[in-house]
Amino acid sequence: MERIISARFDIPNADQLDVYLEHGGYRALKKVLTEMTPEQVIEEVKKSALRGCGGAGFPTGMKWGFVPKDSPKPKYLVCNADESEPGTFKDRQIMEKDPHGLIEGILIGAYAIGAHLAFIYIRGEYWYLKEKLERVIDEARQGGYVGRNILGTGFDCDIIVHPGAGAYICGEETALLESLEGKRGYPRLKPPFPASVGLYGCPTVINNVETLAWVPHIILRGGEWFHRLGTEKSGGHRLYSLSGHVVRPGVYERPLGYPLKRLIYEDGGGIRDGKRLKAVVPGGASSPILTAEEAESATLDYEPLAALGTMMGSGAVIVMDEDTDIVRTTYSFIKFFAHESCGWCVPCREGTRWMVKIFERLLRGGGTERDLEMLVTLSDNMFGRTHCPLGDAAAWAVGPAVKKFRADFERYLTRRGAVAAD
Ligand SMILES: Cc1cc2nc3c(=O)[nH]c(=O)nc-3n(C[C@H](O)[C@H](O)[C@H](O)COP(=O)(O)O)c2cc1C
Ligand code: SF4
Repeated sequence: MERIISARFDIPNADQLDVYLEHGGYRALKKVLTEMTPEQVIEEVKKSALRGCGGAGFPTGMKWGFVPKDSPKPKYLVCNADESEPGTFKDRQIMEKDPHGLIEGILIGAYAIGAHLAFIYIRGEYWYLKEKLERVIDEARQGGYVGRNILGTGFDCDIIVHPGAGAYICGEETALLESLEGKRGYPRLKPPFPASVGLYGCPTVINNVETLAWVPHIILRGGEWFHRLGTEKSGGHRLYSLSGHVVRPGVYERPLGYPLKRLIYEDGGGIRDGKRLKAVVPGGASSPILTAEEAESATLDYEPLAALGTMMGSGAVIVMDEDTDIVRTTYSFIKFFAHESCGWCVPCREGTRWMVKIFERLLRGGGTERDLEMLVTLSDNMFGRTHCPLGDAAAWAVGPAVKKFRADFERYLTRRGAVAAD
């Protein structure tokens, strides 16, 4: 299989402008600025069936098309580099190994929507990548690819890198905008959507790092080519972050519609120490857990995963072997969500904390059957009743785990006072 977005990952110094240019860099930007109108760029991205790689899978071309052309306000493009979904580490690879590819995608996106200023909101822990991106942007500016009158075409666009401060909720696009404006990162009510009322009340597109890094390839080789690589509704390849109990964890570029079984057994080398598969979380901690049987029949695509009651999310596949204690795994997820809940709405703020308390009771050996019922009821009552999707994710982490791995949970009901909840 041809590697596309990851093709430059193995080229030494591909993060330097001269090496990037030697390997086809900034050709797509030049093509866009000299041969295409913004509408044609949006049309090409629509044809590609590229879907957002940040979690929700929204069609990128359609999102760009929502930006009002006649608005007198400035428009902004924001690249979401917060990458905080547990299990996800693919955007880091792009920023480390092919950062100019991201910058080129951002510039093309900005041109398509009529933005002259773009932001990269990067997670605080990636401070070393913030410095790197700033160096890369400076290098691109010296080369005439960023700033005023790019490539002599009259198009202006600058890029600012802004660090987050360690809050998972600031990866949610509207909380991110609040944070970028210098406020506390509470999610906004939608509608209005950011495409019409976004950063500083102006039309704004927010896209994930990987989404934007795909764009130059689509421009150079055509939307139809990209669409054919994937499935009917989801074009192209994706970067999957494979982690957990596999022999070869890592970032793998594979098509949409790829069998999860192949990712685990062929690419990942199977389960470590010859053990059996027990469970898989297919799209980061926000996606409901699958049993081994479900995982082995699953394909990595939005609709098939939704039919299994889970989701594609950020493409973060977490593999668990037969020795995994699903109670402890779920406890670590719910502790994460309780800690990261911004506290704005009651079902999420209170629900996640009650869940943590119930897990701690179970783990200490004081749990009852009623606690298991309570976890399922809490999950059902939180789902769909929160202000932003973090509450749904927390509910999804718990309800399906209790239902599908009941035996793991019941084992704790007989362990009186045995285990410490650390
Ligand atoms: C709690 C929460 C955290 C999120 N974190 C991220 C993140 O770290 N990176 C990201 O790209 N999208 C994240 N998202 C999704 C964004 O809200 C948004 O859908 C995405 O950035 C849009 O870009 P895309 O269309 O290119 O996927 C998160 C969503 C939620 C609800
Ligand atoms: S669901 Fe949770 S994270 Fe989202 S707004 Fe409500 S309290 Fe905040």
